[in-house]
Amino acid sequence: MALLYLPMKKPPVPERSALPSLAIRCTATMAAFGALSLGSAHLAADMLVSPGPGQGGEPVALLGRPLEDDRAVLVALGELAFKSKEVLGVEFSCDDCHPDGGTTSTIFFTGLSDKPGNIDTTNRALTMVEDGRFNPKNIPSLRGAAHTEPFGHRGNFETLRPFTLFAVTGEFNGPTPTDLILDALVAYQEEVAFPDNPALDARGRLTDAASDAAVRGQTLFAKPFSDNPALSCATCHPPDANFTDGAVHDIGSGDVFDAPSLRDVVASPPYFHDGRHDTLADVVDHFDRQYGLGLASSDKDDLVAYLEAIGGGTAPPPVPRPDVNGRRFPANIEPLLAMAIAGKDHSLGDLIVEQAVRELDIWRTAADAPDGIAAWKTALRRIEPLMATGKWAAADEAVRSDLNFVR
Ligand code: HEC
Ligand code: HEC
Repeated sequence: MALLYLPMKKPPVPERSALPSLAIRCTATMAAFGALSLGSAHLAADMLVSPGPGQGGEPVALLGRPLEDDRAVLVALGELAFKSKEVLGVEFSCDDCHPDGGTTSTIFFTGLSDKPGNIDTTNRALTMVEDGRFNPKNIPSLRGAAHTEPFGHRGNFETLRPFTLFAVTGEFNGPTPTDLILDALVAYQEEVAFPDNPALDARGRLTDAASDAAVRGQTLFAKPFSDNPALSCATCHPPDANFTDGAVHDIGSGDVFDAPSLRDVVASPPYFHDGRHDTLADVVDHFDRQYGLGLASSDKDDLVAYLEAIGGGTAPPPVPRPDVNGRRFPANIEPLLAMAIAGKDHSLGDLIVEQAVRELDIWRTAADAPDGIAAWKTALRRIEPLMATGKWAAADEAVRSDLNFVR
């Protein structure tokens, strides 16, 4: 398992400036989310009202499956980094806003959100790119991100890598990630697939599984607008290209914006860049007004049925979980830590240990939790200071002797 890893010299991590104190909108869910305890070093945690039940990301699965090649190791590390709080250097992770690479319509940041699912990413409480305005943006789903370039609501980023770097260092003012972590985050996001949707065939046409209303909606979706016959819904959302033409358009929502894929639209309200529309029916009304479509109310219902058909399905786990034998879980920490040690990369080692301990804590509450979790945690905690103080040989030895998890 030789992942080519060239350690990068990391610039010193700047201290995050104190964040403005903001009122807390506390919920039962938040209280249940022990990790986000109040009064922590980062006030940012106080602002976060965590995702509601069923919208939180799954614990990292990577540690519970065989890692056969370098790509699998990279994706595994990417999932760990995506779900860790170390990457952004605050009390939340990519996964809090993009659970399992999807989106949430319940997360709410007091002072930064105007409605659940929206957040002002250009507010100085978070970022270096303060624009002086309260303008929350809707959190997009990353499902199918390998096929939905460009990125950002304005489509400013052609590929995932520069957007991811921007998300960490620009949007959230986090420490500059190493090339390895960046590659890993990108690899993980590339693995997050569109929902499995039996109503769609490979070319984006409805199958027999779709309702009659959806089939009527499909026809309307492709029908040229009467006032502008060069245009139909399908022009900007072509079904055979995952319902996005990859271009920006002015559709009367304030400026030019990237045409989003509609493959995960059921799971991603509210809609438009600023989440102004709560329902798909509101979106259809917008287009009806904007383009003078003169849709009858039954037409609108059919279009909504179509959008629900193409934008539904079940989200597959972001990375396959063929082996749910939890007992393999800690085994994979070994190669990941070995990578950090080989690269003498303390921050990577720290990220792996911290997230692995969090995963072990989650696992401990499961009915099938194996004995030995406490011992594994202790072993991991012993390795951390060895790495922090540059005792790489001792850390290597400890990984070999103490982390004999599988056996
Ligand atoms: C606090 C919530 C939040 C967190 C945390 C967060 N994001 Fe986002 N993400 C957003 C919002 C809001 C947008 C839309 C921003 C925009 O377009 O201006 C976005 C957009 C994106 C996009 C562009 C998607 C598209 O189709 O245009 C990617 C990719 C992405 N985020 C990845 C990440 C990664 C990787 C992390 C962790 C390093 C992360 N995000 C952390 C809220 C968040
Ligand atoms: C000229 C290009 C264009 C046409 C035509 C068009 N759209 Fe869109 N669509 C967009 C853009 C751009 C956005 C994003 C707007 C924003 O973010 O403010 C969008 C957003 C959407 C959304 C919300 C997706 C989300 O996740 O927020 C839905 C649903 C949608 N369109 C459906 C339709 C339907 C149905 C039609 C036909 C009645 C249609 N579109 C016609 C470009 C287009």
